[in-house]
Amino acid sequence: MKIFIDSADVNEIKQAVEMNLCDGVTTNPTLIAKTGKKNADVIAAICKVTSMPVNAETVGISYDEIVREGAELAKIAPNVVVKIPMCKDGLRAVHYFAERSIASTVTLIFNAPQALLAAKAGASFIAPFVGRLDDQSETGMDMIADIVDIYDTYDFETEIVVASVRSPLHVKDAALAGAHAVTVPYALLDKLIAHPLTDLGIAKFLADAGRK
Ligand code: E4P
Repeated sequence: MKIFIDSADVNEIKQAVEMNLCDGVTTNPTLIAKTGKKNADVIAAICKVTSMPVNAETVGISYDEIVREGAELAKIAPNVVVKIPMCKDGLRAVHYFAERSIASTVTLIFNAPQALLAAKAGASFIAPFVGRLDDQSETGMDMIADIVDIYDTYDFETEIVVASVRSPLHVKDAALAGAHAVTVPYALLDKLIAHPLTDLGIAKFLADAGRK
């Protein structure tokens, strides 16, 4: 399963790249706002540290705005993926980009029918949000299992990038469900790496080796 980094922080992405734990990057307007920089500048900087797919989100909601913005973002680097919110004009824009071989991700997916439409429109990736569904007392991972089934049944090539991932359990369940990828905040990588018994084991080995 691929691991994408859900971050607009170039240093975080660089560190994930150094561990070979960056099969892609997802950004969104909230993450970009945290950097205090312009979307295009942040995306260009990220594309300098990885040649993997880098998702750059459009903020317009009309077809014309999404196409204009997406085309500008796609010019930044060949690995830019235009990330488009799920809506009618968004699906039209996904089709426009697919016809021009420009990769896109449909984001803010909250159920399997939306995922089906995104794949039919020609999305290269979808970002279904599990954490935000869990927050609403719906089991986000059930949606992932449904999407995996549907995509397998109809041989869709659209990749499922499980998003709004909050815990190691989400990562494990996404892998068990057969999702293509998860996108994780950098802080979650630390949680995935660590285990209290690993820490204790390292401390004991160091002590036994006469090192503090
Ligand atoms: C994914 O593409 C989104 O940027 C992200 O996973 C959203 O996560 P959140 O629900 O924790 O904001």
